[in-house]
Amino acid sequence: MSAPPPPPEDGSPSGAAVVGVGIDAVDVGRFRRVLARRPGVGVRLFTDGERADAAAVRDPVERLAARFAAKEAAMKALGSGIGAFAFRDVEVVRGSGTGAARGRPSLRLGGDAAALAARRRVARLHVSLTHTSQVAMAVVVAEGPPAAGPA
Ligand SMILES: CC(C)(COP(=O)(O)OP(=O)(O)OC[C@H]1O[C@@H](n2cnc3c(N)ncnc32)[C@H](O)[C@@H]1OP(=O)(O)O)[C@@H](O)C(=O)NCCC(=O)NCCS
Repeated sequence: MSAPPPPPEDGSPSGAAVVGVGIDAVDVGRFRRVLARRPGVGVRLFTDGERADAAAVRDPVERLAARFAAKEAAMKALGSGIGAFAFRDVEVVRGSGTGAARGRPSLRLGGDAAALAARRRVARLHVSLTHTSQVAMAVVVAEGPPAAGPA
């Protein structure tokens, strides 16, 4: 089962229909306390790449909270809830683009999340993140297969 590709680096539209949307907000202070109390949680929730990405900034927890929000928003966009797939099956990947695309995140799906996306005919997921010292938020939009051209 292959995972849906991330959106094009230039953000260009594909003409496909939106088939799902999800949003989530995480209280950064509360999330910080959970990670401090149960250090194993970070490993269970995040991929090595996500943890390395977070470790590169002054406050890794803010960044991790935004990524956790993205995973929960992806569950909503895929029409499922907690338990449908492992949190690590949705990975936030930092874009390698330049200019306006520099730092733009995308989602990489694996495991049960990729299988669910295929069943729901989701061809692409788009993600947007924001975070402050208090709150981290993510929005995920699920796109269907590219629109068929004129007959
Ligand atoms: C995107 C941008 C507006 C961020 O705004 P901000 O208010 O400082 O920060 P926010 O908390 O709202 O958003 C941060 C998140 O935006 C996302 N982001 C970063 N660059 C982005 C981009 N080019 N496009 C879309 N999203 C982007 C990231 O996910 C980031 O969180 P992360 O660092 O944890 O991955 C700002 O970074 C920007 O203008 N980037 C454009 C690229 C650019 O000019 N880069 C040169 C910087 S020197």
